[in-house]
Amino acid sequence: YQAPYPPYDPTDKEGFSYETVVKRWPIILTGIIDNIYRVNHVLSVSHSEEAANEETLSAQEKIEEGKNLIEQISKLKYEMGRDRPLETITHDGESMVDIYNTELARLTEQGKGTWFTAPWLYAECYLYRLLRSYFSQTKHWNKHDPFQAQKQETFKKSSQAIFQLATTMHELEQDKAKLGSDAQKLNIIFREMIQMCLWGNATDLSLLTQMTHEDIQHLQSVGKDAQAARKEYILTDDQDKVWSHLMGLKDARIDFVLDNAGFELFTDFVFADFLVTYTPYVSKVVFHPKMIPWFVSDVTPPDFKATISSLLSPTFFPESKSDEQISSLAGSALAQDPTIVSAPKELPQSRQHLKEMVTRWAGYLESGVFALSVSPETPLGASNSNANFWTSPYPYWNMNDLAPEVFGSLKDSGLVIFKGDLNFRKLTGDVKWPASTPFESAVGPLRGAFPVLSLRTNKADVVVGVEKEKAERLDSGGEKWRVNGKYALVLFLPRA
Ligand code: F6P
Ligand code: MG
Repeated sequence: YQAPYPPYDPTDKEGFSYETVVKRWPIILTGIIDNIYRVNHVLSVSHSEEAANEETLSAQEKIEEGKNLIEQISKLKYEMGRDRPLETITHDGESMVDIYNTELARLTEQGKGTWFTAPWLYAECYLYRLLRSYFSQTKHWNKHDPFQAQKQETFKKSSQAIFQLATTMHELEQDKAKLGSDAQKLNIIFREMIQMCLWGNATDLSLLTQMTHEDIQHLQSVGKDAQAARKEYILTDDQDKVWSHLMGLKDARIDFVLDNAGFELFTDFVFADFLVTYTPYVSKVVFHPKMIPWFVSDVTPPDFKATISSLLSPTFFPESKSDEQISSLAGSALAQDPTIVSAPKELPQSRQHLKEMVTRWAGYLESGVFALSVSPETPLGASNSNANFWTSPYPYWNMNDLAPEVFGSLKDSGLVIFKGDLNFRKLTGDVKWPASTPFESAVGPLRGAFPVLSLRTNKADVVVGVEKEKAERLDSGGEKWRVNGKYALVLFLPRA
């Protein structure tokens, strides 16, 4: 399928793609180097005093490999900044190498094989696959996720919104008997749930290069008022269509093509839990992860598994400050720290509410009501004919031909929820559609294959499904509405 518009690429210096190559990728690469350096440092300190035994030798080997990784990534950063050609990916025994290299050869022929000329979507997917090939070829780092520490740290900082949502779900549980027969109330709760799940996407770590912790807490606020205030930022809102569609289902399976780990995955679980536990429409939910570290914060099988145990661990989230502790801080230097003053006012019961809810999820995972599309034990880099597709450079237009197994499995789904910005870019091919292009045109041949819901906060230039006047007004307003993560789209497409 050939879209009638060219892809976004960094030759346009006004676009987010240019800013990404110039600023964001170098920061992300530096973060990986820091992460390796830190692991190496800990290893060298803990093994410096010991006699040469097997463990020390393997630590030394790992340190040497770590240094080599740092060198490779520094070189990559250097070449990226100088618009050098993309290198071919070494056959590392993992998936997609030929697909990436064949496409690279094709782009090179067209004079688009360098960092500042390659289409953004291709180059960004390629970057994460290339990085994976550096790690996968080592002996000691081949299961290492350089973003894992960052994912965990940020997750810990989301406790305020997490406890709040747990208590909301607890209150729902009290009302459960009544809810089943009150369609109107269910609809109202559905709206809150879908919006929570949508804004959960605002916290993606690849954008952390430009957001403060306060910005993030603000985006995570989940109360009614916060949601009402954000409603005007949903540029096109198909919530009603989705609800009507869901009401036509009975005991259906739905699918989440996941985006980010941490808070966003938590909101996906809450949404899934709501649909399964409180509505008659859905009885099974399948979650689709990424098989390699991807776009910094995307969910891998190890992340998926760790999420449940972190949420069930009594020590994972830091104790919140009580009111007395907060007031005793007043006047001290710490009081200037916004993260402390706005510390979570955790209800005494909310930890219990969280435990109740996540125990229910664990039960669902046990019984197959919730399922990951691959085993949660799958290590990074494992090949899986179904899951590999999500880390290919392909748009979703031709899923039917490119990934018949995935396509076949989604065809039976009652609703496929595509989370986040990258999934949206792939649904629309990341080409320069006019913003008023109907969503159903932008998905090309995927149109009508299965019911699609895209929940996306805007973090890339491509926009479709927005009224012409609205988009023009925003474009002329000077705000970076296409990329600053403050605006969003809720787009639905039915099955044909
Ligand atoms: O860096 C490019 C990008 O795809 C942006 O569009 C977005 O900021 C980020 O990476 C990924 O966002 P998400 O996690 O929502 O897919
Ligand atoms: Mg992501």
